[in-house]
Amino acid sequence: MILVTGGSGYIGSHTVLVLLQAGFEVVVLDNLSNSSTVSLERIAQITGKKAVFIKGDIRNRALLDKLFSDYLIESVINFAGLKAVGESTKKPLAYYQCNVHGACTLLEAMNDAGVKSFVFSSSATVYGEPETDCYHENLPTGHPTSPYGRSKLMIEEILKDLQTSDNEWKIAILRYFNPVGAHQSGKIGENPTGIPNNLLPYISQVAIGKLPYLNVFGDDYNTPDGTAMRDYIHVMDLAEAHLDAMNAIMKINTANESALKIWNLGTGQPYSVLEMVKAFEDACGHDIKYKIAPRRAGDIAKFYADASLAKAELGWTAKLGLSDMMEDTWRWQSNNPNGYNHLLK
Ligand code: NAD
Ligand code: UD1
Repeated sequence: MILVTGGSGYIGSHTVLVLLQAGFEVVVLDNLSNSSTVSLERIAQITGKKAVFIKGDIRNRALLDKLFSDYLIESVINFAGLKAVGESTKKPLAYYQCNVHGACTLLEAMNDAGVKSFVFSSSATVYGEPETDCYHENLPTGHPTSPYGRSKLMIEEILKDLQTSDNEWKIAILRYFNPVGAHQSGKIGENPTGIPNNLLPYISQVAIGKLPYLNVFGDDYNTPDGTAMRDYIHVMDLAEAHLDAMNAIMKINTANESALKIWNLGTGQPYSVLEMVKAFEDACGHDIKYKIAPRRAGDIAKFYADASLAKAELGWTAKLGLSDMMEDTWRWQSNNPNGYNHLLK
């Protein structure tokens, strides 16, 4: 059985779906601070299979001990955490407490239960601002610009120390670039609370008429159209990569090989903000209003993944392109204009 913490959230729910379809039994632990169980009900509708759901917090050691004694867990995929970059600058302690203390508590409980296979959601933010715009795993980590980013880097360092101290640990650190999109069914997707911070949820709320226009943050970057470029990756490709990474580390013979693996997850193809707007217009069939606004503090002009290591070591590459990302987002947004929110009990 696989424990997926944060499994009712955006990336977690898509990964739970992929795990169930691959034949795994799944336990989801989520405190529902940023999600609802409607995503899990939808997954059951799509797959005909149900994950066990436990409402609770990764910082609750007693609950974790009970969970590991009640279920035979082979591996843990940890999505649970706070992720809003702006909020993290205002509430740093909440971010370190939830993300870093939460990860340590979970790892301690795993260690005591003898469960030593762990897949971690990290981010391209750990590279900081390197000289190059193509990020390879061999680049040194840099200085993330927010407490959120630093919490990810701290956990990466903790995981390296843990694996060095005990080579029975099998750990996959997955550095995501910019996850977007939704399951092709249009039944599960990203459900941001309040006004979205990230580009694609914002564009799709403009498209549905909930927001009047998009602010394009800066058109004077050193890029072909002047707007900033990112490596957007479809959430279903990301979910598949979690399955592949988990399977790969579980197979490692730790007597011969280090089982601390770091993989970038991106497509390797960056797109500008204006290219994203245009592609969304093609998917939804009407114009998206936008205004050029000043640059957003902390933004970088352009970066994208060198994802060749994941291809070489996992046989994984992103299969879905820009039009899939946009069409699937639009299907989810137009079928669920209020996300899951109106269904909450
Ligand atoms: P999300 O907020 O949709 O999912 C996180 C889930 O964890 C939510 O369901 C939330 O209720 C739960 N949670 C939060 N704190 C918890 C705790 N202490 N105990 C139990 N459950 C808790 O976010 P997401 O976009 O699915 O992101 C998943 C992970 O991937 C996060 O760790 C995030 O930092 C990381 N990540 C996300 C992105 C992105 O763009 N979405 C990029 C890089 C990394
Ligand atoms: C942001 C975070 C990053 C996190 C990632 C998760 C910052 C500085 N970085 O990345 O740490 O891992 O989200 O997905 O917050 N844009 C607009 N208008 C908008 C929103 C965004 O023009 O209303 C632009 C941004 O300037 C950027 C691009 O769209 O160039 C993508 O922005 P966003 O989706 O927020 O992702 P990142 O900033 O790359």
